[in-house]
Amino acid sequence: MEEEECITEDEIVDKLQASGNRDGWRTELPRSGLGDKVVEQMKDEKQKDVTWQDKCSGTMYIGGNENEGHFSLINEACSMFAHTNPLHLSVFPSVVRFEAEVVAMTAAILGSKEKSLKSVSFIHDCRIIPVSAHSAYDKAAQYFKIKLWRVSVDKEFRADVKAVKRHINKNTIMDLGDLASSYRICFHVDLCRGGFVLPFARKLGHPVPPFDFTVQGVTSISVDVHKYGLAPKGTSVVLYRNREIRKHQFVAVTEWTGGVVGFMFLQRLLEAGLEFICLACYLENTKEIMEASKRIQKGIQEIPELFAIGRPDMSIIAFGSDVVDIFEVNDVLSSKGWHLNAFQRPSSVHICVTLQHVPVVQIFLKDLRDSVQTVKENPGPVNGGFAPIYGAAGKMPDRGMVQDLLVEFMDNSC
Ligand SMILES: Cc1ncc(COP(=O)(O)O)c(C=O)c1O
Repeated sequence: MEEEECITEDEIVDKLQASGNRDGWRTELPRSGLGDKVVEQMKDEKQKDVTWQDKCSGTMYIGGNENEGHFSLINEACSMFAHTNPLHLSVFPSVVRFEAEVVAMTAAILGSKEKSLKSVSFIHDCRIIPVSAHSAYDKAAQYFKIKLWRVSVDKEFRADVKAVKRHINKNTIMDLGDLASSYRICFHVDLCRGGFVLPFARKLGHPVPPFDFTVQGVTSISVDVHKYGLAPKGTSVVLYRNREIRKHQFVAVTEWTGGVVGFMFLQRLLEAGLEFICLACYLENTKEIMEASKRIQKGIQEIPELFAIGRPDMSIIAFGSDVVDIFEVNDVLSSKGWHLNAFQRPSSVHICVTLQHVPVVQIFLKDLRDSVQTVKENPGPVNGGFAPIYGAAGKMPDRGMVQDLLVEFMDNSC
């Protein structure tokens, strides 16, 4: 029996919760309030957060230090509007305007011309996505009771058109332009990360395949403006090709005693931040991010024990190894302060390059080279590392058990 398989369910949950010591946590309202001291306490707690500067994959997209520059600007803007309630449009016209402008600006960079699509099927009971699509689609499928088909990707880890075609039926929302138009079904593009990189990368001359509303058949696009858009966290935009499709996002309640009301199906959020950044700044940021990404890609290719996964069009670089345990490499990198993301099928690690990494490309590559050497010379689990857990979770044949473990972990984390 392999070593990973000896790890018990309890050990995995214990390991996942290792940082979850809750001694001293409040579980009831205090008898007397803390007053202004609460801010001091929050500052103390903040000290316990991990140092993320420069070393986190994705997560932090704004460059520099959290107490200056664009961070400060965003903090000031948010503090001005934290109390607003965008449900009350007439009370907060400022927020309505900001939101409309952010959505319009985002649509403009993604080729929206409000053309109408003749006839689209809106039956949302089935969706086809590549196996590599973000787990947020599983969340949405569970939430909206949509049947989700995950289909294989090709050798370069891109969506496989043939595999998608095999899964199409007349009730499908799906993801590839030509196929979608020929079947007259919806085609959603997830540009949560790419929305504020790919349009600028293309302008800068990087080879980027068509991805936006200029692709016939694309009916909706999601863009997290809080990522490469550099807006505050919790802000995202969903764009529709035309008003006819967008209407499905609205809920109109006519019989409530509280009055006749209309809602967005998903609540709108304040998107400050984008207003302050100009086209030239995004181009400059993208230039730096793409250059750093290419250097990291090249550096990884030069490490003989590693292989690159796929052919990245932008700034997310995944790598694996046939020589060393890549999750052990990730653990050694973690001990050097890096926070990368571990993946399965194939076992791999990725770094999503942001402005934070631009000044530390050399340091990253040195740490990566050293970590590979360390694991090569001393293979085996790293003290306090996650490699055995990732290894075991990836190989456990009983996926139901893995699901139960995750639910248990979340249940114990709330
Ligand atoms: C590619 C991609 N799609 C979708 C999402 C959105 O996930 P959620 O809806 O949980 O914010 C993310 C978030 O990181 C993402 O990177």
